[in-house]
Amino acid sequence: MAAHRFQDHVVLITGGANASGIGAVTASLFLAEGAKVFIADLEERDIASYLGSKNVGFCKCDVSSPEECEAAVQACVEIHGRIDILFHNAGMLCPPAHVPNQDVGVFQKVLLTNLGGLFYLSKVVIPYMQKQGKGSIIATASTSGLSGAMSISPYAASKAAVINLVQTIALDHAKDGIRVNAVAPGLIDTPMTAGFSQMPALRDDMLSNIPMGRAGKPEEVGKAVLFLASEDASFITGHVLRVDGGTSADCSGSPDVVKHLAAMQRQR
Ligand SMILES: NC(=O)c1ccc[n+]([C@@H]2O[C@H](COP(=O)([O-])OP(=O)(O)OC[C@H]3O[C@@H](n4cnc5c(N)ncnc54)[C@H](O)[C@@H]3O)[C@@H](O)[C@H]2O)c1
Repeated sequence: MAAHRFQDHVVLITGGANASGIGAVTASLFLAEGAKVFIADLEERDIASYLGSKNVGFCKCDVSSPEECEAAVQACVEIHGRIDILFHNAGMLCPPAHVPNQDVGVFQKVLLTNLGGLFYLSKVVIPYMQKQGKGSIIATASTSGLSGAMSISPYAASKAAVINLVQTIALDHAKDGIRVNAVAPGLIDTPMTAGFSQMPALRDDMLSNIPMGRAGKPEEVGKAVLFLASEDASFITGHVLRVDGGTSADCSGSPDVVKHLAAMQRQR
């Protein structure tokens, strides 16, 4: 049998308390490969059932607070003895609105959660990784951070800044043996996007923008995270791995434009 890639590696995951979310599914993949996992989230929610395992730790943590991020890193090191991989995955969306109608408080909370969390956690985790001479940091960005995204300016700007921060930390700490990367998911079926299923017309339009014609599964993001965290990615840092069924490879325009182009082809 092949050796587990992450035997006894310690992985701190933020935003992993929803069983069908990207964080918890990625935690299961790490556990299956021998890792010890520590989850930091606002509530225990679905993970309460497997918290008895000696390989799983948890603390309540609001990642928009620098103090709570520091406490989460310390709790992880106390329970598991070290920290090899940080996966900053906690994130929040904002309601759709143009800038004049976006709430300033929402803007600030989204920025502090999605971006601030990565900064605060990295600030505390990097010195541990420097002492170990090795480490891997991975953040969940989004295809919304690769270009503008209509009506969700706080979210899109926060994810764009996550990508930039990932690249900068990667440069600053490449010689410390710390690799820093991001995944950029497109539409993935998780609790965050469950509401779209209640609006079939919106969901159909979203799916028609995805070249592979379907939403992604959380494990498809998790497998990309494990790749970036593994020795297979030993020369990869400052990278953004898109997990989006081809969405960000396409700049053809709206589904209507694509339909017109298809009709033109049929006429030739
Ligand atoms: N689902 C998608 O289509 C999609 C696409 C691109 C990016 N993402 C990103 O993936 C990540 C995971 O989201 P998901 O889709 O699995 O949904 P999810 O709702 O299951 O996961 C988000 C998690 O973050 C936690 N969280 C939110 N605010 C927090 C805070 N302040 N402190 C600590 N934890 C907090 C939530 O409690 C939840 O467990 C997010 O960063 C999200 O922006 C999701």
